[in-house]
Amino acid sequence: MNNYKNLFKTSVKKLKIAGFRNPISDCRKLFNHCVSSDSCKDFDPTKLDKHTNRIFDFAVRRRLSQEPVSHIIGYKEFWKTRFYVNQSVLDPRPETELIVEKVLGLPSSKLSVLDLGTGTGCIAISIALERVDLEIFASDISPEALRVAKFNARELGARVNFIHSDWFANIKNTFDVIVSNPPYVCTSDLISLPLTVQRFEPRLALAAGELGLDCFREIASNLNDYLNPGGVGIFEIGFNQIGLIKGLFEAYGFKQIDFFFDLEMKERVVCVKKDA
Ligand SMILES: C[S@@+](CC[C@H](N)C(=O)[O-])C[C@H]1O[C@@H](n2cnc3c(N)ncnc32)[C@H](O)[C@@H]1O
Repeated sequence: MNNYKNLFKTSVKKLKIAGFRNPISDCRKLFNHCVSSDSCKDFDPTKLDKHTNRIFDFAVRRRLSQEPVSHIIGYKEFWKTRFYVNQSVLDPRPETELIVEKVLGLPSSKLSVLDLGTGTGCIAISIALERVDLEIFASDISPEALRVAKFNARELGARVNFIHSDWFANIKNTFDVIVSNPPYVCTSDLISLPLTVQRFEPRLALAAGELGLDCFREIASNLNDYLNPGGVGIFEIGFNQIGLIKGLFEAYGFKQIDFFFDLEMKERVVCVKKDA
């Protein structure tokens, strides 16, 4: 009776009853994490020892209290690797990979790139790992987030220059490419975010005022001064923000504004180009 299949099934059932959307996948990740930890290296699936049972049960209880799987296992997959995460940073999301894809698709080499609001560093580091010819800078207002990003860069061997800055306040250079996934959740939507997000992800990474445009306004109003001639800005946007974002960049003089779809066919990335 006391084998891992029974324990797994019981745990999936607990998450299902509690209303979790992906109970099997959650339990699988938690279980794999528990049995791959050093203290369980003699794990035998046919005989579940008390220790493994206890640590898996504890992980499931943490999940039942809405803690994200990524915080329990300590990392989140993004692009081609894993990023260390904690409560100081937003978990990297799959839709953000579209920014990485767009930068890697740019034809020129030796570009300078700035990632504003880097969080875990997932965008800047993923680009740096693919393109050693690019000079990459990444900034955040949160010292704790910068600590996480620097740790990730060191662990993954990525060359990124980190800057502590409130958007452009401490940025001294100009760049060929400026990217960002800024906070864009409007005040009225904050309350309807999943509990996992509300309780465990930093508000600083999400909240962007009444229309969700506060951070975009700050970025769009300064962008022209920090882009080199012919430079591009590539930004993630909320799925219902296309009209507002187009109007905002137009108001700051950008003429070439293109939107791109994520894997769910929602317009989630905007590219704007400064005249050459
Ligand atoms: C939505 S998160 C994006 C994190 C990461 N780039 C990603 O895509 O997963 C937004 C980030 O912007 C940072 N941020 C918020 N306000 C900022 C500001 N005034 N200046 C610079 N960064 C800011 C937050 O700390 C957070 O790390």
